[in-house]
Amino acid sequence: MAGEEALVARAREVIRANDRGAYTVPTGGLYPFQWNWDSCLTALGLAHLDEERAWTEVVTLFAHQWEDGMVPHIVFHEPSDGYFPGPEVWGTGRPTPTSGITQPPVAGFVVRKLFDRAEDRELATARARELLPKVDAWHEWFYRHRDRAGEGLVAVLHPWESGRDNSVDWDEAFERVPTAGVAPYTRRDTQHADPAHRPTHAQYDRYLWLLQRFRDLGWDNARLHDASPFRVVDPGFNAILIRSCADLASVADALGASDVAARNRARAARALAALEGLWSEAHGQYLCRDRTTGALVDSASVGGLLPAFAAVPRERAARIARTIERWARHAAYLVPSHDPTDPRFEPQRYWRGPVWLVVNYLIADGLRGAGEEDAAARIVDSSLDLLARSGFAEYYDPLTAEACGGRSFTWTAAMAIELLAARRGVGRPPL
Ligand code: DGY
Repeated sequence: MAGEEALVARAREVIRANDRGAYTVPTGGLYPFQWNWDSCLTALGLAHLDEERAWTEVVTLFAHQWEDGMVPHIVFHEPSDGYFPGPEVWGTGRPTPTSGITQPPVAGFVVRKLFDRAEDRELATARARELLPKVDAWHEWFYRHRDRAGEGLVAVLHPWESGRDNSVDWDEAFERVPTAGVAPYTRRDTQHADPAHRPTHAQYDRYLWLLQRFRDLGWDNARLHDASPFRVVDPGFNAILIRSCADLASVADALGASDVAARNRARAARALAALEGLWSEAHGQYLCRDRTTGALVDSASVGGLLPAFAAVPRERAARIARTIERWARHAAYLVPSHDPTDPRFEPQRYWRGPVWLVVNYLIADGLRGAGEEDAAARIVDSSLDLLARSGFAEYYDPLTAEACGGRSFTWTAAMAIELLAARRGVGRPPL
Protein backbone atom coordinates (compact mmCIF):
# COMPACT_ATOMS: atom_id res chain seq x y z
CA MET A 1 0.00 0.00 0.00
CA ALA A 2 1.28 3.47 -0.85
CA GLY A 3 0.79 4.77 2.71
CA GLU A 4 2.81 1.93 4.12
CA GLU A 5 5.58 2.37 1.57
CA ALA A 6 5.79 6.05 2.44
CA LEU A 7 5.95 5.20 6.15
CA VAL A 8 8.83 2.78 5.58
CA ALA A 9 10.63 5.34 3.41
CA ARG A 10 10.36 7.92 6.19
CA ALA A 11 11.44 5.37 8.80
CA ARG A 12 14.56 4.66 6.72
CA GLU A 13 15.36 8.37 6.65
CA VAL A 14 15.13 8.61 10.44
CA ILE A 15 17.39 5.61 10.90
CA ARG A 16 19.87 6.91 8.33
CA ALA A 17 20.03 10.30 10.06
CA ASN A 18 20.78 8.64 13.41
CA ASP A 19 23.27 6.11 12.01
CA ARG A 20 26.86 6.71 13.14
CA GLY A 21 28.37 3.89 11.04
CA ALA A 22 28.70 0.99 13.48
CA TYR A 23 25.93 2.02 15.85
CA THR A 24 22.88 4.28 15.97
CA VAL A 25 22.00 6.99 18.47
CA PRO A 26 18.39 7.02 19.77
CA THR A 27 17.99 10.56 18.43
CA GLY A 28 20.41 13.44 17.82
CA GLY A 29 20.51 16.06 20.61
CA LEU A 30 18.59 14.40 23.44
CA TYR A 31 20.49 11.07 23.28
CA PRO A 32 23.76 11.45 21.33
CA PHE A 33 25.39 8.10 22.27
CA GLN A 34 24.67 4.38 21.93
CA TRP A 35 21.99 3.06 24.28
CA ASN A 36 21.77 -0.64 25.03
CA TRP A 37 18.16 -1.71 24.44
CA ASP A 38 17.58 1.02 21.89
CA SER A 39 20.35 -0.44 19.76
CA CYS A 40 19.26 -4.05 20.08
CA LEU A 41 15.64 -3.29 19.19
CA THR A 42 16.76 -1.01 16.38
CA ALA A 43 18.66 -3.97 14.91
CA LEU A 44 15.28 -5.66 14.26
CA GLY A 45 14.26 -2.87 11.91
CA LEU A 46 17.73 -2.54 10.41
CA ALA A 47 17.72 -6.22 9.51
CA HIS A 48 15.00 -5.59 6.91
CA LEU A 49 17.24 -2.99 5.25
CA ASP A 50 20.72 -4.47 5.65
CA GLU A 51 21.38 -7.69 7.58
CA GLU A 52 25.07 -7.08 8.02
CA ARG A 53 24.48 -3.60 9.45
CA ALA A 54 21.91 -5.04 11.88
CA TRP A 55 24.41 -7.55 13.27
CA THR A 56 27.02 -4.80 13.56
CA GLU A 57 24.70 -2.79 15.80
CA VAL A 58 24.65 -5.60 18.38
CA VAL A 59 28.30 -6.56 17.92
CA THR A 60 29.35 -2.94 18.59
CA LEU A 61 27.37 -2.85 21.82
CA PHE A 62 28.90 -6.10 23.05
CA ALA A 63 32.41 -4.88 22.26
CA HIS A 64 31.95 -2.70 25.36
CA GLN A 65 30.79 -5.46 27.70
CA TRP A 66 32.55 -5.33 31.07
CA GLU A 67 34.89 -8.10 32.22
CA ASP A 68 32.33 -9.14 34.84
CA GLY A 69 29.72 -9.70 32.11
CA MET A 70 27.63 -6.54 32.45
CA VAL A 71 26.61 -4.76 29.28
CA PRO A 72 26.34 -1.04 30.12
CA HIS A 73 23.31 1.03 29.29
CA ILE A 74 25.23 3.78 27.47
CA VAL A 75 28.44 3.64 25.41
CA PHE A 76 29.93 7.11 25.00
CA HIS A 77 31.66 6.51 21.66
CA GLU A 78 32.24 10.16 20.76
CA PRO A 79 32.31 13.23 22.99
CA SER A 80 29.15 15.34 23.07
CA ASP A 81 28.20 17.94 25.61
CA GLY A 82 24.50 17.73 24.81
CA TYR A 83 23.72 15.03 27.39
CA PHE A 84 23.83 14.90 31.17
CA PRO A 85 25.16 12.85 32.98
CA GLY A 86 28.13 12.41 30.65
CA PRO A 87 31.16 10.11 31.01
CA GLU A 88 32.95 12.32 33.52
CA VAL A 89 30.03 11.98 35.94
CA TRP A 90 29.87 8.20 35.58
CA GLY A 91 33.62 7.85 36.06
CA THR A 92 33.67 4.14 35.24
CA GLY A 93 37.24 4.24 33.92
CA ARG A 94 36.45 2.16 30.84
CA PRO A 95 38.75 2.48 27.77
CA THR A 96 35.77 3.77 25.78
CA PRO A 97 33.69 5.46 28.48
CA THR A 98 30.43 3.77 29.44
CA SER A 99 27.79 4.21 32.09
CA GLY A 100 27.98 1.87 35.09
CA ILE A 101 24.49 0.39 35.09
CA THR A 102 22.66 -1.87 32.66
CA GLN A 103 19.33 -1.96 30.78
CA PRO A 104 16.58 -4.46 29.82
CA PRO A 105 18.39 -7.47 28.31
CA VAL A 106 16.63 -7.82 24.97
CA ALA A 107 19.80 -9.01 23.21
CA GLY A 108 19.06 -12.75 23.49
CA PHE A 109 15.63 -12.23 21.95
CA VAL A 110 17.05 -10.02 19.20
CA VAL A 111 19.89 -12.39 18.33
CA ARG A 112 17.37 -15.19 17.87
CA LYS A 113 15.13 -13.04 15.66
CA LEU A 114 18.06 -11.95 13.48
CA PHE A 115 19.37 -15.51 13.31
CA ASP A 116 16.07 -17.23 12.54
CA ARG A 117 15.09 -14.74 9.84
CA ALA A 118 18.50 -14.29 8.23
CA GLU A 119 18.84 -14.81 4.49
CA ASP A 120 22.63 -14.71 4.74
CA ARG A 121 23.01 -17.93 6.76
CA GLU A 122 26.80 -17.86 6.75
CA LEU A 123 26.93 -14.36 8.20
CA ALA A 124 24.20 -15.17 10.72
CA THR A 125 26.01 -18.27 11.92
CA ALA A 126 29.29 -16.38 12.31
CA ARG A 127 27.73 -13.45 14.18
CA ALA A 128 25.54 -15.63 16.39
CA ARG A 129 28.58 -17.77 17.30
CA GLU A 130 30.47 -14.63 18.24
CA LEU A 131 27.61 -13.21 20.34
CA LEU A 132 26.46 -16.42 22.02
CA PRO A 133 29.06 -16.56 24.84
CA LYS A 134 28.77 -12.81 25.40
CA VAL A 135 25.01 -12.80 25.84
CA ASP A 136 25.32 -15.92 28.01
CA ALA A 137 27.87 -14.09 30.21
CA TRP A 138 25.49 -11.14 30.57
CA HIS A 139 22.69 -13.47 31.70
CA GLU A 140 25.08 -15.13 34.13
CA TRP A 141 26.01 -11.69 35.49
CA PHE A 142 22.36 -10.88 36.21
CA TYR A 143 21.67 -13.97 38.28
CA ARG A 144 25.02 -13.68 40.09
CA HIS A 145 24.88 -10.00 41.01
CA ARG A 146 21.21 -9.06 40.96
CA ASP A 147 19.74 -12.15 42.62
CA ARG A 148 22.08 -12.41 45.58
CA ALA A 149 19.74 -14.60 47.63
CA GLY A 150 19.03 -16.97 44.74
CA GLU A 151 15.30 -16.19 44.49
CA GLY A 152 15.24 -16.69 40.72
CA LEU A 153 14.42 -13.03 39.94
CA VAL A 154 16.79 -10.09 39.47
CA ALA A 155 16.48 -6.57 40.88
CA VAL A 156 17.14 -3.25 39.20
CA LEU A 157 19.22 -0.89 41.33
CA HIS A 158 18.45 2.28 39.41
CA PRO A 159 15.23 3.30 37.59
CA TRP A 160 17.33 3.96 34.48
CA GLU A 161 18.15 0.24 34.40
CA SER A 162 14.46 -0.65 34.06
CA GLY A 163 14.18 1.52 30.95
CA ARG A 164 10.99 2.91 32.52
CA ASP A 165 12.78 5.73 34.29
CA ASN A 166 10.02 7.60 36.13
CA SER A 167 7.33 4.91 36.37
CA VAL A 168 4.92 5.14 39.30
CA ASP A 169 6.41 1.74 40.22
CA TRP A 170 9.46 3.43 41.73
CA ASP A 171 7.76 6.23 43.70
CA GLU A 172 7.63 4.45 47.05
CA ALA A 173 11.13 3.00 46.91
CA PHE A 174 12.42 6.41 45.82
CA GLU A 175 11.26 7.86 49.13
CA ARG A 176 14.17 6.00 50.69
CA VAL A 177 16.75 7.48 48.33
CA PRO A 178 18.23 10.61 49.88
CA THR A 179 19.25 13.71 47.96
CA ALA A 180 21.78 15.29 50.36
CA GLY A 181 25.25 15.46 48.90
CA VAL A 182 24.27 15.46 45.24
CA ALA A 183 26.79 17.64 43.41
CA PRO A 184 25.24 20.66 41.64
CA TYR A 185 24.28 19.85 38.05
CA THR A 186 22.47 21.19 35.01
CA ARG A 187 20.01 18.96 33.20
CA ARG A 188 20.30 18.88 29.43
CA ASP A 189 17.24 16.76 28.65
CA THR A 190 14.82 19.60 29.40
CA GLN A 191 16.64 21.75 26.82
CA HIS A 192 15.79 19.22 24.11
CA ALA A 193 12.31 18.08 25.20
CA ASP A 194 9.32 19.66 26.92
CA PRO A 195 9.99 19.50 30.70
CA ALA A 196 6.32 18.50 31.21
CA HIS A 197 7.11 15.30 29.29
CA ARG A 198 10.19 14.47 31.36
CA PRO A 199 10.98 13.26 34.92
CA THR A 200 10.83 15.85 37.71
CA HIS A 201 13.80 17.56 39.37
CA ALA A 202 13.14 15.63 42.59
CA GLN A 203 13.50 12.39 40.59
CA TYR A 204 16.67 13.61 38.89
CA ASP A 205 18.25 14.37 42.28
CA ARG A 206 17.66 10.76 43.27
CA TYR A 207 18.91 9.38 39.96
CA LEU A 208 22.11 11.32 40.63
CA TRP A 209 22.37 10.28 44.26
CA LEU A 210 22.29 6.61 43.29
CA LEU A 211 24.85 7.17 40.54
CA GLN A 212 27.21 8.88 43.00
CA ARG A 213 26.74 6.11 45.57
CA PHE A 214 27.63 3.41 43.04
CA ARG A 215 30.58 5.44 41.76
CA ASP A 216 31.83 5.77 45.35
CA LEU A 217 31.73 1.96 45.55
CA GLY A 218 34.00 1.81 42.51
CA TRP A 219 31.25 0.29 40.33
CA ASP A 220 31.99 -3.02 42.03
CA ASN A 221 28.96 -5.13 41.18
CA ALA A 222 29.68 -7.53 44.02
CA ARG A 223 28.83 -4.65 46.39
CA LEU A 224 26.20 -2.54 44.66
CA HIS A 225 23.13 -4.71 45.23
CA ASP A 226 23.34 -4.89 49.00
CA ALA A 227 24.48 -1.27 49.32
CA SER A 228 21.65 0.23 47.28
CA PRO A 229 18.62 1.73 49.01
CA PHE A 230 16.78 1.13 45.72
CA ARG A 231 16.30 -2.57 44.86
CA VAL A 232 13.16 -3.42 42.94
CA VAL A 233 12.15 -6.64 41.20
CA ASP A 234 10.39 -5.53 38.01
CA PRO A 235 8.22 -8.21 36.36
CA GLY A 236 8.71 -6.63 32.91
CA PHE A 237 12.48 -6.57 33.21
CA ASN A 238 12.53 -10.16 34.45
CA ALA A 239 10.19 -11.28 31.67
CA ILE A 240 12.56 -9.81 29.09
CA LEU A 241 15.47 -11.63 30.70
CA ILE A 242 13.50 -14.90 30.80
CA ARG A 243 12.56 -14.60 27.13
CA SER A 244 16.15 -13.76 26.20
CA CYS A 245 17.42 -16.80 28.11
CA ALA A 246 14.91 -19.06 26.33
CA ASP A 247 15.69 -17.54 22.93
CA LEU A 248 19.44 -17.75 23.45
CA ALA A 249 18.96 -21.42 24.31
CA SER A 250 17.23 -21.92 20.97
CA VAL A 251 20.11 -20.29 19.06
CA ALA A 252 22.60 -22.32 21.11
CA ASP A 253 20.80 -25.52 20.11
CA ALA A 254 21.03 -24.57 16.45
CA LEU A 255 24.76 -23.95 16.83
CA GLY A 256 25.38 -27.16 18.76
CA ALA A 257 26.32 -25.33 22.00
CA SER A 258 24.39 -27.64 24.29
CA ASP A 259 25.95 -26.35 27.52
CA VAL A 260 24.88 -22.76 26.78
CA ALA A 261 21.42 -24.03 25.83
CA ALA A 262 21.00 -26.04 29.02
CA ARG A 263 22.19 -23.18 31.27
CA ASN A 264 19.84 -20.66 29.73
CA ARG A 265 16.88 -23.00 29.68
CA ALA A 266 17.40 -23.70 33.39
CA ARG A 267 17.58 -19.97 34.17
CA ALA A 268 14.36 -19.32 32.29
CA ALA A 269 12.48 -22.19 33.97
CA ARG A 270 13.53 -21.15 37.46
CA ALA A 271 12.69 -17.50 36.88
CA LEU A 272 9.30 -18.30 35.32
CA ALA A 273 8.33 -20.24 38.45
CA ALA A 274 9.48 -17.36 40.69
CA LEU A 275 7.61 -14.80 38.59
CA GLU A 276 4.32 -16.30 39.78
CA GLY A 277 5.00 -14.72 43.17
CA LEU A 278 4.45 -11.30 41.55
CA TRP A 279 0.97 -12.05 40.18
CA SER A 280 -1.89 -9.87 41.45
CA GLU A 281 -5.36 -11.31 40.98
CA ALA A 282 -6.88 -7.97 41.99
CA HIS A 283 -5.06 -6.07 39.22
CA GLY A 284 -5.15 -8.84 36.62
CA GLN A 285 -1.43 -8.42 36.05
CA TYR A 286 1.98 -8.79 37.67
CA LEU A 287 3.38 -6.20 40.11
CA CYS A 288 6.86 -5.12 41.19
CA ARG A 289 8.29 -6.36 44.46
CA ASP A 290 10.32 -3.96 46.58
CA ARG A 291 13.22 -6.13 47.66
CA THR A 292 14.04 -3.85 50.61
CA THR A 293 10.63 -4.24 52.26
CA GLY A 294 9.61 -7.52 50.61
CA ALA A 295 6.19 -6.05 49.70
CA LEU A 296 4.46 -5.99 46.32
CA VAL A 297 4.17 -2.44 44.93
CA ASP A 298 0.57 -1.32 44.41
CA SER A 299 1.15 0.20 40.98
CA ALA A 300 -0.46 -1.15 37.80
CA SER A 301 2.08 -0.24 35.13
CA VAL A 302 2.93 -1.72 31.75
CA GLY A 303 5.83 -3.48 33.50
CA GLY A 304 3.24 -5.89 34.87
CA LEU A 305 1.77 -6.58 31.41
CA LEU A 306 5.15 -7.26 29.79
CA PRO A 307 5.38 -10.79 31.25
CA ALA A 308 3.13 -11.78 28.35
CA PHE A 309 6.44 -11.59 26.45
CA ALA A 310 7.76 -14.59 28.42
CA ALA A 311 6.20 -18.04 28.44
CA VAL A 312 3.89 -17.35 31.38
CA PRO A 313 0.90 -19.71 31.82
CA ARG A 314 -1.75 -19.21 29.11
CA GLU A 315 -4.38 -18.11 31.63
CA ARG A 316 -2.07 -15.31 32.76
CA ALA A 317 -1.57 -14.10 29.19
CA ALA A 318 -5.35 -14.25 28.63
CA ARG A 319 -5.95 -12.23 31.78
CA ILE A 320 -3.35 -9.65 30.70
CA ALA A 321 -5.19 -9.34 27.38
CA ARG A 322 -8.41 -8.61 29.32
CA THR A 323 -6.63 -6.01 31.46
CA ILE A 324 -5.43 -4.29 28.29
CA GLU A 325 -9.05 -4.32 27.04
CA ARG A 326 -10.14 -2.68 30.28
CA TRP A 327 -7.45 0.01 29.92
CA ALA A 328 -8.58 0.56 26.32
CA ARG A 329 -11.95 1.76 27.58
CA HIS A 330 -10.14 4.75 29.11
CA ALA A 331 -7.47 5.41 26.47
CA ALA A 332 -7.92 5.84 22.73
CA TYR A 333 -4.46 4.38 21.94
CA LEU A 334 -2.72 1.29 23.29
CA VAL A 335 -0.83 0.44 25.44
CA PRO A 336 -0.59 3.22 28.04
CA SER A 337 2.46 2.76 30.27
CA HIS A 338 0.27 3.10 33.34
CA ASP A 339 -3.32 2.20 34.25
CA PRO A 340 -5.31 5.19 32.90
CA THR A 341 -7.82 4.95 35.77
CA ASP A 342 -5.13 5.38 38.42
CA PRO A 343 -5.02 9.00 39.73
CA ARG A 344 -1.22 8.87 39.33
CA PHE A 345 -1.58 8.38 35.53
CA GLU A 346 -0.05 11.28 33.53
CA PRO A 347 -0.69 10.90 29.78
CA GLN A 348 2.30 12.95 28.62
CA ARG A 349 4.98 12.35 31.25
CA TYR A 350 7.48 9.78 29.98
CA TRP A 351 6.73 6.42 31.66
CA ARG A 352 3.76 7.53 33.79
CA GLY A 353 1.17 7.11 31.03
CA PRO A 354 2.45 7.56 27.44
CA VAL A 355 2.52 4.76 24.86
CA TRP A 356 5.93 3.40 23.79
CA LEU A 357 6.04 1.45 20.54
CA VAL A 358 8.86 -0.85 21.60
CA VAL A 359 6.83 -2.01 24.58
CA ASN A 360 3.80 -2.47 22.33
CA TYR A 361 5.89 -4.64 20.06
CA LEU A 362 7.13 -6.86 22.89
CA ILE A 363 3.66 -7.28 24.42
CA ALA A 364 2.04 -7.98 21.04
CA ASP A 365 4.72 -10.55 20.22
CA GLY A 366 4.07 -12.32 23.52
CA LEU A 367 0.29 -12.23 23.24
CA ARG A 368 0.47 -13.63 19.72
CA GLY A 369 2.65 -16.46 20.99
CA ALA A 370 0.06 -17.19 23.70
CA GLY A 371 -2.74 -17.41 21.12
CA GLU A 372 -4.20 -13.98 22.00
CA GLU A 373 -4.24 -12.94 18.34
CA ASP A 374 -7.00 -10.34 18.59
CA ALA A 375 -5.41 -8.46 21.47
CA ALA A 376 -2.04 -8.53 19.66
CA ALA A 377 -3.59 -7.24 16.41
CA ARG A 378 -5.31 -4.42 18.26
CA ILE A 379 -2.00 -3.29 19.77
CA VAL A 380 -0.28 -3.41 16.39
CA ASP A 381 -3.12 -1.43 14.74
CA SER A 382 -2.96 1.18 17.47
CA SER A 383 0.81 1.46 17.03
CA LEU A 384 0.52 1.99 13.27
CA ASP A 385 -2.24 4.51 13.83
CA LEU A 386 0.03 6.50 16.16
CA LEU A 387 2.85 6.40 13.61
CA ALA A 388 0.56 7.62 10.84
CA ARG A 389 -0.85 10.43 12.98
CA SER A 390 2.20 11.65 14.84
CA GLY A 391 5.36 10.33 13.19
CA PHE A 392 8.38 8.76 14.85
CA ALA A 393 8.04 10.22 18.32
CA GLU A 394 9.83 8.97 21.40
CA TYR A 395 6.39 8.26 22.93
CA TYR A 396 2.73 9.26 22.50
CA ASP A 397 -0.17 10.57 24.57
CA PRO A 398 -2.60 7.61 24.79
CA LEU A 399 -5.60 9.94 24.98
CA THR A 400 -4.83 12.24 22.03
CA ALA A 401 -2.00 10.58 20.00
CA GLU A 402 0.09 13.72 20.49
CA ALA A 403 3.83 13.18 19.89
CA CYS A 404 5.80 13.54 23.15
CA GLY A 405 9.46 13.67 24.20
CA GLY A 406 12.10 13.56 21.47
CA ARG A 407 11.33 13.37 17.71
CA SER A 408 12.87 11.35 14.86
CA PHE A 409 13.41 8.43 17.17
CA THR A 410 15.46 5.53 15.85
CA TRP A 411 13.77 2.65 17.66
CA THR A 412 10.33 4.01 16.86
CA ALA A 413 11.30 4.06 13.17
CA ALA A 414 12.70 0.54 13.50
CA MET A 415 9.43 -0.59 15.04
CA ALA A 416 7.47 0.90 12.14
CA ILE A 417 9.41 -1.33 9.73
CA GLU A 418 9.24 -4.37 11.98
CA LEU A 419 5.52 -4.01 12.76
CA LEU A 420 4.58 -3.58 9.12
CA ALA A 421 6.60 -6.64 8.22
CA ALA A 422 4.92 -8.67 10.95
CA ARG A 423 1.46 -7.49 9.93
CA ARG A 424 2.02 -8.50 6.34
CA GLY A 425 2.84 -11.92 7.75
CA VAL A 426 5.63 -12.40 5.25
CA GLY A 427 8.46 -11.16 7.42
CA ARG A 428 9.17 -8.40 4.89
CA PRO A 429 8.15 -4.75 5.09
CA PRO A 430 6.69 -2.99 2.04
CA LEU A 431 10.03 -1.63 0.76
C1 DGY B 1 17.75 9.47 30.17
O1 DGY B 1 18.77 10.13 30.27
O2 DGY B 1 16.62 9.91 30.12
C2 DGY B 1 17.88 8.03 30.02
O3 DGY B 1 16.68 7.36 30.02
C3 DGY B 1 18.81 7.43 31.00
O4 DGY B 1 19.38 6.40 30.33
